[in-house]
Amino acid sequence: MAHPAFPSIPSDFLWGVSTAAYQIEGAVTAGGRGPTSWDAFTAQPGRIVDASTGDVACDHYHRYPQDVALMADLGVDAYRFSFAWSRIQPTGTGPVNPEGLAFYDRLVDSLLEAGITPAPTLFHWDTPLALEEQGGWLNRDITEKFADYAHLMGTHFADRIPRWITINEPVVLTMLGYGAGIQAPGLQLGFGALPAAHHQLLAHGRAVTALRAAGATNIGIANNHAPTWPASDAVEDQQAAGLYDAIANWVFADPVLAGRYPDELAPMLPEGAQDDLAEISVPLDWYGINYYNPTRVSAPDPTGAGALIDGHELDADLPFALRDIEGYPLTDFGWPVVPAAFTDLLVSFKDRYGSALPPVYITENGCAINDGPDEDGAVHDSRRIDYTRAHLGAISDAIDAGVDVRGYFHWSLLDNFEWAVGYTQRFGLVYTDYATQERIPKDSFRWYRDAIAASR
Ligand code: NOJ
Repeated sequence: MAHPAFPSIPSDFLWGVSTAAYQIEGAVTAGGRGPTSWDAFTAQPGRIVDASTGDVACDHYHRYPQDVALMADLGVDAYRFSFAWSRIQPTGTGPVNPEGLAFYDRLVDSLLEAGITPAPTLFHWDTPLALEEQGGWLNRDITEKFADYAHLMGTHFADRIPRWITINEPVVLTMLGYGAGIQAPGLQLGFGALPAAHHQLLAHGRAVTALRAAGATNIGIANNHAPTWPASDAVEDQQAAGLYDAIANWVFADPVLAGRYPDELAPMLPEGAQDDLAEISVPLDWYGINYYNPTRVSAPDPTGAGALIDGHELDADLPFALRDIEGYPLTDFGWPVVPAAFTDLLVSFKDRYGSALPPVYITENGCAINDGPDEDGAVHDSRRIDYTRAHLGAISDAIDAGVDVRGYFHWSLLDNFEWAVGYTQRFGLVYTDYATQERIPKDSFRWYRDAIAASR
């Protein structure tokens, strides 16, 4: 096949791949790790479509040397992974568990030896169970504990870790974990979930300050953003889409980047939330965006049709409904592939925040394409190549439009545990054979390696 063209990307761009602890590590009882909200959630029958858990996942806890070697072969500059808080503090508070810290010492040192810079996320949804049992992110006390944990990690790693991420996608933990009950901890609070958003944002701000006090630098957050498309010009649809946009996007970006909450959501936030905005909006060194697809929103259907998310109906009486997007290819997860919306999103950030927007890194972008090995043992995932090429092209367009995008972390290095859908969706550049733990670099792996090399 002729070599596909590569998007034009600045030569000093930071290239990376992304993963998260619960999705790849396995070894959930090894090395003194404490249980998390996800261990408890996956143990409940009916929660995960294939009844799977992260107990073994990609066994990365034991196989990390091989995974680091794969990344070295790929030629990435940086690796975004997450620390499992409960490996460090098994109950989310109290003294450090040395064995847990030692695992990340080994991982960080082997990355550095391979010439790859570590870019850890402090929290990617795996709340220590002991804290979840005290209300988790609904309980403001967790913000102090998170800051202590951040300080501890900063103190230990500041001299070896050049780039930090506080929290991953607080919107998803809020909406799917506490609002809709599709992910851990499985609560269905509807709008009652918003305090979990506020406490994650406050924890983020406090962690930035704690990390800096410990000597860490170059700190950002990884926020998921989905451009919201009103289903029609009808005023009801426009209003519903505006409200959804506030909940899905701006309630997570405005406090961080502009020190304010969208007006329409203020009544649903904990009392005194406004008083925390100064702490939440502590200036960042960069802002991380995870982008997958836009969302089409209408006013609620009187018959109740139109799910909150991913085909899951909510009991709560919501003032909006999600609609299918037609006319675009879909990934195997059913997500529409709309690269132009990515450019629009990036430009909208520049327009909304102006000079208050720090440099942007794409902390996640990728697609579930479930191709497996064919008779020759190779994985010909040409649709992932097309997706990645088009989305890098969208970034290139945004850079041309004046958005300061500095790097890109593909989701994901490996096929892994995709939360409520278990192992049924494959996001990796590397195929994981879960029965044998064999790793097979896909065609997209070689394409990404070539795209990186071509940009230099
Ligand atoms: C967002 C999350 O951060 C990550 O954990 C997940 O696997 C990907 N998106 C794909 O859904």
